[in-house]
Amino acid sequence: MLLSAAMSAAPIDVWKQPIDALDVISARIYGEHGYPHEAWRRLRREAPVHWHQPPGYRPFWAITKHADIIEVSKQPKIFRSAGRFILFPEAQGAGASLEEAPPLRMLVNMDPPEHRDYRRLVAHWFTPRAIGKLEQRLEEITRDIFDELAGDGGWRTCDFVRDVAALQPLRMITEMLGIPQEREQWVLKITNQNFGLEDPDFQLEGDTPEARLAFITEAFQYLDQLMDERRKNPREDLSTVLAQAKLAGRPDDPEGSVPVPKFELYSLYFLVMVAGHDTTRNAISSGLRAFLEHPEQLRKLQRDPSLVHTAADEIVRWTTPVNHFSRTATQDYELRGQHIKPGDSVALFYASANRDEDVFPDPDVFRIDRDPNPHLGFGVGEHFCLGSHLARMDLRVFWRQFAERVEEIELDGPLELLHASFVGGPKRMPVRFRMKPRA
Ligand code: HEM
Repeated sequence: MLLSAAMSAAPIDVWKQPIDALDVISARIYGEHGYPHEAWRRLRREAPVHWHQPPGYRPFWAITKHADIIEVSKQPKIFRSAGRFILFPEAQGAGASLEEAPPLRMLVNMDPPEHRDYRRLVAHWFTPRAIGKLEQRLEEITRDIFDELAGDGGWRTCDFVRDVAALQPLRMITEMLGIPQEREQWVLKITNQNFGLEDPDFQLEGDTPEARLAFITEAFQYLDQLMDERRKNPREDLSTVLAQAKLAGRPDDPEGSVPVPKFELYSLYFLVMVAGHDTTRNAISSGLRAFLEHPEQLRKLQRDPSLVHTAADEIVRWTTPVNHFSRTATQDYELRGQHIKPGDSVALFYASANRDEDVFPDPDVFRIDRDPNPHLGFGVGEHFCLGSHLARMDLRVFWRQFAERVEEIELDGPLELLHASFVGGPKRMPVRFRMKPRA
């Protein structure tokens, strides 16, 4: 197997900069250099709870140690998710900050007890047992994608992000929701344009609050139709579950009979739809990047496909597709000797925690048989990723089939990274490859 990677980025010497000047948040840094691992290493060592005041952003505490992220995440009443749950730049010119205009109320920006009531509405669809029933179908979806790619077995080229990584998780979540295949591209558009990627390639025209509102209005109209249809003709899908959802309102009403307010219902729908594929797409394309940079790890997987279980988690640890979420303190709190005040923002850098030398032996080594692997790539505590079992299954099935079928793969042009510090990964990844033809 021939594997090569041609990625380069001029390094910044973060050890010589004043610590207050370290940039761990601007989209530019992520787009041009990738995740700022060296800056995080220094912060973990010298200032693990650090008050950051970068230009263009409201200030925040940067939390970079594994143990501290767990401590904060497990106290959702002290560190709430409502409010500033992701860090975005302040408004520039006529634009509006995505922070000021997150138009939805989703699980990720709700707090207990309300958060638990909403999570319960869909949680049964994401248990290991429920997800396990979908594995056969996922194998077929993935096989179809690879069959399409393989052609007659000769050399071919594609954009790995658009033509491969995006497809499997997108098709899987849209099937779970019961959204027709011809709507897939619409789902992709919603994800790219409305869920806060700072990357200019994905922003709405003008990126004004009006443009965002118009977009959401159009999407809500589609959901109105879909929900009406499912109430009349229920099916075995998540859209039907959501269309029929009722909140448990009163102690004398344990089964629940309170209709879910439309805004919250559609917000939940959006979250499942978007979180259900965008992150996994990034895990797959960043996973390929990891394999291109560590070809011996792919050979190892090919020799022993049972390693996909640990490999899936190591890919999530190594690539950490969701880089950060943020919380807001509701009271005074002491963390590693730093005084966090009510109203302060606290940014949880999962990608830094996943390289914490106090937790992971050789944290900067990508090793697909790493076990145990207590990474925080899916978060921890109250907001632990609802879709983690689905994501792991997507990754296991994908990489097992990839290792079986792809004979040679290499970069065929420059890899471009997302200009974003919330989620991370390649934006474009031209590749040349040769696969075993369809059986
Ligand atoms: C490799 C893929 C994935 C990664 C890295 C990932 C990561 C995360 C992280 C870090 C959180 C925590 C949010 C917080 O701290 O506030 C989260 C929450 C969530 N994820 Fe995932 N996720 C992935 C795949 C999925 C999939 C496939 C779904 C399917 C629906 C999903 C649905 C959700 C939902 C609904 C939440 C919100 C949970 C809550 O607030 O209670 N994720 N995810």
